[in-house]
Amino acid sequence: MAGATSASKSGLRTAPESASGNGEAFPEGFVWGAATASYQIEGAATEDGRGLSIWDDYSHKPGNTWEGNTGDVACDHYHRYKEDIGLMKDIGLQAYRFSIAWPRVMPAGTGAVNEKGLAFYDRLVDELLAAGVQPWATLFHWDYPLALFDRGGWLNADSPKWFADYVAMVIDRLSDRVSHWMTINEPQCFIGIGMFGGNHAPAMSLSLREALLAAHHVLLGHGLAVQTIRARAKTKPTVGWAVVGCVNYPASDSAADIEAARRATMGVTQKNLWNNSWWADPALLGQYPADGLALYGVDAPKFTDADLHTIHQPLDFYGANIYQGDEVRAGANGEPELVPYPVGGPRTLYGWKVAPESLEWGPRFLYERYKTPTVITENGMSNVDWVMEGGGVHDPQRIDFLRKYLQAYRRAIAAGVDARGYFQWSLLDNFEWAEGYKHRFGLVYVDFETQKRTPKNSAAWYRDVIRSHGRSLG
Ligand code: FCB
Repeated sequence: MAGATSASKSGLRTAPESASGNGEAFPEGFVWGAATASYQIEGAATEDGRGLSIWDDYSHKPGNTWEGNTGDVACDHYHRYKEDIGLMKDIGLQAYRFSIAWPRVMPAGTGAVNEKGLAFYDRLVDELLAAGVQPWATLFHWDYPLALFDRGGWLNADSPKWFADYVAMVIDRLSDRVSHWMTINEPQCFIGIGMFGGNHAPAMSLSLREALLAAHHVLLGHGLAVQTIRARAKTKPTVGWAVVGCVNYPASDSAADIEAARRATMGVTQKNLWNNSWWADPALLGQYPADGLALYGVDAPKFTDADLHTIHQPLDFYGANIYQGDEVRAGANGEPELVPYPVGGPRTLYGWKVAPESLEWGPRFLYERYKTPTVITENGMSNVDWVMEGGGVHDPQRIDFLRKYLQAYRRAIAAGVDARGYFQWSLLDNFEWAEGYKHRFGLVYVDFETQKRTPKNSAAWYRDVIRSHGRSLG
């Protein structure tokens, strides 16, 4: 794209001179991308033989989502993927993280394959490759086949195998062109909120014991999926996952505060599923954490050595979705103590704390414990963007947010963290689960009435970050 004042077809303005900057560059090979998920953007919910997911069912029940919003149409990406890949090209994305809708390609969750559904991902991947954007595919981002839910879902002991069979089919079809894979997205949410907290699909409020059993099956499914990918992929695969990075960051650089934050970040301290190590210890260290086993007690699942063997599969990267964090200090006896958040302190539209430090300390603590290269598979902020007079969407808060978080990630790298990539959430404004279209996370504004896309200022800003390999962050 040409000169400083030119605008591309998409309206994204470029300023090449600001693409330099005097900050430290990110490591060689570090990849810049943006992320989305199938149910949040695709739409075409009943088209070309797609089966239903638990999110179709949930969002259609009155009272479940904000203003009764559904993903029926969403960003209509199923039909507009070419335009959207054009936007990625304009922004200069090197990689794009998307997810495959299990019920689109296997409507009943097992058995028959939906050729038309698979053909969509063929087209998507081919178009991405033609645009020079590396596809990073998530195999499960919450849109669980409704037909399998009716058979017990993740509570069914066969569920890990159902997932692995679906994964095998996808790998056979796409792995000649896709080499970057993530097994599952945020099990803390789809089990912890969807099946334990009841505020997401499938709206279950299971007991802790049942939720932990479902979690165990998810971990088994993850392990089988990793094995399946490695066994069947046609091009050498790079395999990770994309889990919530729960972060507590230290109030100061004192050894005591850092230790308090480490313990708070890596411990299992509450009887829920909102932590790192209950998920990551079995996957990456081959055992459930002792503090979790002690805390959950009789509610912990019964498992065998063979189970742990299946779950424990080395990953090529630890994908963490990090949006926020809590500040912690060493209290009396060195015990972690939460630092109260300032009254009126900065928060996103979600109410999430603006905590750039979480992108320094989250990766540091995770890398320290799991010794696996990190990728930030999601990070971003929801805001109340709209098209302003003159036609632009000005989002200085998002730019400030992303800049500070990326600077923090760079500090983690300086502290020795092996960092392989960063995916901004999200390319497009989209269906934000139970919050519907209330929250806008996109680099690109979407008018959901007309489907018109308008790149926000943050899109041009991110383009400069990518071009300068992070130097423009200052
Ligand atoms: C994460 C989800 C993603 C998106 C962001 C805002 O928890 O993985 O789909 O909704 O939050």
